[in-house]
Amino acid sequence: MKIKVVSTAQEINATMTHGQTVVVVDVLRATSVIVTALANGAVAVWPVLSVEEAFAKHKTFPPSNALLGGERGGVIIPGFHHGNSPFSYSRETVFGKNIVLSTTNGTRAIRNSNGADGLFLLAMLNLPYAATKLKEIENLMIVCSGTNNRFSADDALCAGMLIVELEKYTQIETDDLGLVLRNFALQAGSPAEKLSSCYHLNYLKSIGYQNDINYCLQIGTHNILPRLQTDGSVMIWKD
Ligand code: MLT
Repeated sequence: MKIKVVSTAQEINATMTHGQTVVVVDVLRATSVIVTALANGAVAVWPVLSVEEAFAKHKTFPPSNALLGGERGGVIIPGFHHGNSPFSYSRETVFGKNIVLSTTNGTRAIRNSNGADGLFLLAMLNLPYAATKLKEIENLMIVCSGTNNRFSADDALCAGMLIVELEKYTQIETDDLGLVLRNFALQAGSPAEKLSSCYHLNYLKSIGYQNDINYCLQIGTHNILPRLQTDGSVMIWKD
């Protein structure tokens, strides 16, 4: 398998992803939220770019069937039902609902990658399962969402961990960034230890989201792989 890694949402566009199989990563917290919401029975997550687009999309559903979720600067958007904490997407809250989600970087990375033939979402939560589903792919592009157009170590570590996990099944040829991230993943220490100086992690901690961080850094708690559908929704992939 050949793997190319893209370091931020800003660097990717529909043309670059055309015909590719792409995995988008935003460990803290967008892809962790999407994995959680779908695992808890949300019908679909609709990633949108702007707040205006979110309100417009939400109006297309009967009010009792849809929730508005997302953040700017890590905090809930005024007028939305929920922010971007995975704990806001419990079974009681999301079962049977459509979630319209707008986040600063994660939903942008998904949108910017939408030329892909197959677009899947990765978090640490579903990493081992994702590897079992992606192991036969010949060319894989991993898109790290980053933070405000900057490289972010949480996504980078997860990308490296996916490369290491895929190596259990197949021979991997990767680009220079993939090579560095693979080595980062193989270093001793837990994700929390490796990410102790991560800017976005420390920002989330400073605004009171340590529990979210602990949750999102768990590995392999969810056996689902979310996939972008042609209508723009994200659902659990049933192959
Ligand atoms: C994002 O998409 O930028 C985020 O997931 C930010 C966050 O909720 O921490």
